[in-house]
Parts: sequence; structure tokens; C-alpha cells
Amino acid sequence: MAASMSLGISWAFILVLVSCAASSAARKPCPTSSKFKVGFYRNTCPAAEYIVKQTVHEAVAKNKGMAAGLLRLHFHDCFVRGCDASVLLKSTPQNPAERDHPANNPSLRGFEIIDQAKARLEAVCPKTVSCADIVAFAARDSIYKTGGIYYDVPAGRRDGRVSLLPEVTQNLPPPNFNAQQLIANFARKGLSADEMVTLSGAHSIGISHCSSFSRRLYAFNTTLAQDPSLDPAFASFLKTQCPPPSNVTRADPTVSLDSITPDTLDNKYYLQLLKLRGVLVTDETLYTSPSTSRMVVSNAVNGAAWRAKFAKAMVKMGSLDVLSGAQGEIRKVCSVVN
Ligand code: HEM
Ligand SMILES: *[C@@H]1O[C@H](CO)[C@@H](O)[C@H](O)[C@H]1NC(C)=O
Ligand SMILES: *[C@@H]1O[C@H](CO)[C@@H](O)[C@H](O)[C@H]1NC(C)=O
Repeated sequence: MAASMSLGISWAFILVLVSCAASSAARKPCPTSSKFKVGFYRNTCPAAEYIVKQTVHEAVAKNKGMAAGLLRLHFHDCFVRGCDASVLLKSTPQNPAERDHPANNPSLRGFEIIDQAKARLEAVCPKTVSCADIVAFAARDSIYKTGGIYYDVPAGRRDGRVSLLPEVTQNLPPPNFNAQQLIANFARKGLSADEMVTLSGAHSIGISHCSSFSRRLYAFNTTLAQDPSLDPAFASFLKTQCPPPSNVTRADPTVSLDSITPDTLDNKYYLQLLKLRGVLVTDETLYTSPSTSRMVVSNAVNGAAWRAKFAKAMVKMGSLDVLSGAQGEIRKVCSVVN
């Protein structure tokens, strides 16, 4: 009895060590770790979060879409190699970086806002605040500005020194995935189906280029031109915005991902899905697939619950594979390694 108990305890002990060690394989950092915590810069750079907030405030005042850009930037950073600002690194002649993958270039935006915040931070506390933390703070501030949803951001992320273009293909879900593929993709990051559906609510702000969904309008499959899970009236509207892809023109216009409240982060996105007005295949499939349909309905009818879940899931996404302590570095300029 005593032996089996101590065996149980030592196993539990090992499990805790493995599941929260600050290694790149860990899904979650130790909650008690002083290396990754809320208020990380309290002593070393007390104005850090304020400076980022101010920079985001100015950027979004000039261009509302920047909030969406900054939120997406955090997602694209965290899903590839963890939240280590690898998405910000520029390609070099020897190394095509994440930033130049078609999922990021040309549509990902907000790089210059991160650079601006970083320059301001380097002026007051040099080599102290990581680019990865700036991205995490900026996403939180963008969420607050557009949706009034607030959460504390654990910080202490270190910046990575590696960024590889092919890793984007391996980690980020493309916009034609079905629900099972989306669930599997998020599960690899330790995120549940419900968290995947909850985080997809980020598509209640921002835009998509026509190229990300125009097959749904003109070339759905070999028998159907138009995606039957798309409201015909909404499809007609989208066609006025997006020319047929067969028309060889370089133009790639954009549409709002949520046409009811395009600049407000809210649960109206889910109401759009109920009306078959999701823009991306990956949006509408959340409602038309039995495995996630109920989650969409629940988020559509209960905004308060969705907001709470969204904040929680953002903290979780922001904790993916973080580098901490002596790992990585604090970049001086966010687009290049030191
Ligand atoms: C579930 C899988 C997801 C897929 C397949 C996906 C895919 C996409 C695509 C294709 C676009 C439009 C890009 C373009 O053509 O311009 C987009 C935009 C966006 N995504 Fe996602 N996304 C997903 C999840 C997320 C998550 C989890 C977040 C954040 C938590 C997010 C935030 C955004 C935002 C804010 C935009 C608008 C960006 C802008 O206006 O600049 N997405 N997404
Ligand atoms: C085309 O899509 C429809 C609706 O999803 C489906 O019923 C049909 O089987 C598909 N056809 C082919 C050839 O894949
Ligand atoms: C291609 O698109 C342009 C501009 O949208 C339009 O004027 C032109 O008629 C289109 N050509 C074809 C063949 O559809």
C-alpha cells in the first residue's frame, strides 16, 4: 500500500516536471514559474505594457484593421515554433523565413507597429522586453480595443533565433480544412475542439483576400460551381467583390470576415455562421459539421460565455512552447536575430 502510494506520488511528480518544464516540447509553462508570469517586467521595465498599449492605441486609431492584423500575428507566431517572434524574422538569402510563406506574405500585417513599440521600448529599457512579449501584449490590447475583452498576459517569453518557411505549412491550418482537420491541427497544440471554435471567433474582425475563399464561389468541386453551404444571396454579394479566379488579373480584393460588425470583436461572427455567411470554408464548416455545430450555436447565443472562453483560450494559445529563462535571446530589432 505504502509502496504503491509512493510510486503514485513519484509518478505524479515526474509528470508535473515533464508537463511544465520550460522546454520547447512543453505545452504549458509551470504556473508558479518566475520565468513566465503576469507582471514579468514590473521591476525591469515598468512601463513596458503601457508603451505597447499606447502604440497599439495610436495604430488602431489610424487604421482599425490593424487590430485584426496584430491579433492574427500572435496566432501565426504561436502556432509555428511557439510564441517566440519567429514570424517577425526576415528571410535571408540562405534562409526563407516564416514571414515569406504565402499564409503570411502579403496578407499578414502589423509588423511595423511591433517595430515601433520595440523602438520605443529599446529607448527606455534596452535589451529587456522580448519581441514575442510585445506581440502577445499587442494582441491583448487589440482585443480590448475592438471587443472590450481583457485578460492579463503572462510574460517572460524569449525570442527565438530560427524561422523556417516550410514550418508554416506544417503547422498553420489552411483555409480549406474541414472540421476534423481543424480539430486535429489544434489538438497538436494542446487546444480542444471547443477552444478551436472559440478562437475562430477572432474572425469577427478583419478581412480576407478573395483568393482565400474564391473557389467557394466559382469552382467548388467537379460537379458544383458554388459551395452549397454558402447562403446564395451572400455568395452573390461576394461575387460582386471578388472576380472569378480564372480571370487572369493580379488584383486580389478583400472582404470583411464578419460583414455585420467588421471592426468589433464579438459573437456576431457565430450568428453569421448560422446564416451560412461564413467567408472561409474553415468558418462555415464549424457550423455544418456535427462535431462542432453545437459549439457554434452556444457561442452565438451566449456572448458572455464566449468572451470568457476567448480570453482564457488566448492565454493558452499565448503560452505555446514559450522559450524562457536563458533560452533564446532578447532581440534588439524584431526582424533580425542579434
Ligand atoms: C481555425 C483555423 C484558422 C484558419 C484556417 C484561418 C485562416 C485565415 C485566413 C485565410 C484569413 C484571411 C487571410 C487573407 O486572405 O487576407 C484569416 C484572417 C484572420 N485570422 Fe484566421 N484562421 C484561423 C484561426 C484564427 C485564429 C485562432 C485567430 C486568432 C486568435 C485568427 C485571427 C485572424 C484575424 C484577426 C484575421 C483578419 C486579419 C486581418 O484583417 O489582417 N485566425 N485567417
Ligand atoms: C461536391 O460537393 C457536394 C456538396 O458538398 C457533394 O455532395 C458532392 O459529392 C461533391 N462532388 C464531388 C464530385 O466531390
Ligand atoms: C476580368 O476582370 C476585369 C476587371 O474585373 C473585367 O473588366 C474583364 O471583363 C474580365 N475578363 C473576363 C474574361 O472575365
